[in-house]
Amino acid sequence: MRVIVTGAASGIGAAISRKLAAVYGPQAKLILSDLNAPALDAVARQLDGVDGCRAIAVAGDISMAQAPHELAQTARKEFGGLDALFSNVGISGRGQVIDAGIEDWDKLFAVNVRAPLFLVQAVAGLLEQSRGSVVMTTSMCGSHPSPLGPYSVTKAALVMLMKQLSVELGRKGVRVNSISPSWVETAASVQLFSNPEMRQRKESHVPLGRLAAPEELADVAAFLISRDARYVSGVDLQVDAAFANTLIYATQKEGDWDPPARRDPALSASA
Ligand SMILES: NC(=O)c1ccc[n+]([C@@H]2O[C@H](COP(=O)([O-])OP(=O)(O)OC[C@H]3O[C@@H](n4cnc5c(N)ncnc54)[C@H](O)[C@@H]3O)[C@@H](O)[C@H]2O)c1
Repeated sequence: MRVIVTGAASGIGAAISRKLAAVYGPQAKLILSDLNAPALDAVARQLDGVDGCRAIAVAGDISMAQAPHELAQTARKEFGGLDALFSNVGISGRGQVIDAGIEDWDKLFAVNVRAPLFLVQAVAGLLEQSRGSVVMTTSMCGSHPSPLGPYSVTKAALVMLMKQLSVELGRKGVRVNSISPSWVETAASVQLFSNPEMRQRKESHVPLGRLAAPEELADVAAFLISRDARYVSGVDLQVDAAFANTLIYATQKEGDWDPPARRDPALSASA
C-alpha cells in the first residue's frame, strides 16, 4: 500500500502513518509530508524499516505551488506509483466571518482547500493507474457554523471538493471520501482541552462521554482506503460519537418536555 500522508508529523496524520505501518507491514510504503521537519523526521525514523515498512519524509509547506508535484514525483520515483492519498493538513483561525481579513482568509483557503485540490490533481493519474483512493480530513465545523467562522467555511468547501472529485474521479475508478472529526486530542486542540472545566463541558455533550484519540480517526481512515471500503465513495464520514446529533438536546433542561400532567398535577386527566 503506497500512501502519501500530509500533516504526518503530529496528531491524526502521525496516527494514520503508524496505523498503515502496522496494518500493511512490508507492503507499507509511506511518503510523509509536513511543515515541521524535525517532528516529521522523528515519525519517519520511528516507522522506516520496522517490519519492512518504508517511510520517506518530505518536509515542506503543502500550500506552496511545487509541493504537490514534489510528493507525486517521490511516489513515482521511490515506489513506482501510488495507491492512496491521505490529505489531512488543516489550519484553523478564530473569529467571525464578518471580520475576516484578506490575508487570514487567503491563508486558510490556501492550506485547507487549494492545497488538497492541487495535491489531488498532481496524483490523480497515479491513482487512476492503481484504482486507488483519496481520504481528506474535514471537520464537524464544515457542516455546523462555529466560533471558528472562516475555518468552518473552508471545511465546508473541502466537503464539496471531496464530493465533486468523487464524481469526476469515480469515472476513472478512483474513490474519494473524507472523515469529519469533532473533538480530537491533538496538538491543534491542546489549548482547549488542557482546561479541565472546558474539557468536562465538551465531553458532557458527547453521547459517548469522551473526546476522540487520534488513533480512532486513523482507524476509520485506514478502513476507507482499504479494499473493505471498495464500494464507498463520496462520503463525509462523521467520526464524532454522535455529537452532531445532539442539537435539540443542547437546549434541553430537566423536565422541559414532560407531559403537562407531570408538570402540573391540577391539569392531569384524573384530577
Ligand atoms: N483536533 C481536532 O479536534 C480536530 C477536529 C476537527 C478537524 N480536525 C482536522 O484534522 C486535521 C489534522 O489536525 P490535527 O488535530 O491532527 O492537528 P495537528 O496540529 O496535531 O497536526 C497538523 C499538522 O499539520 C502540519 N501543518 C500545518 N500547516 C501546514 C502546511 N502549510 N504544510 C504542511 N504541513 C502543515 C503541522 O505542522 C502539524 O504537524 C486538520 O485538517 C484539522 O482541521 C481536527
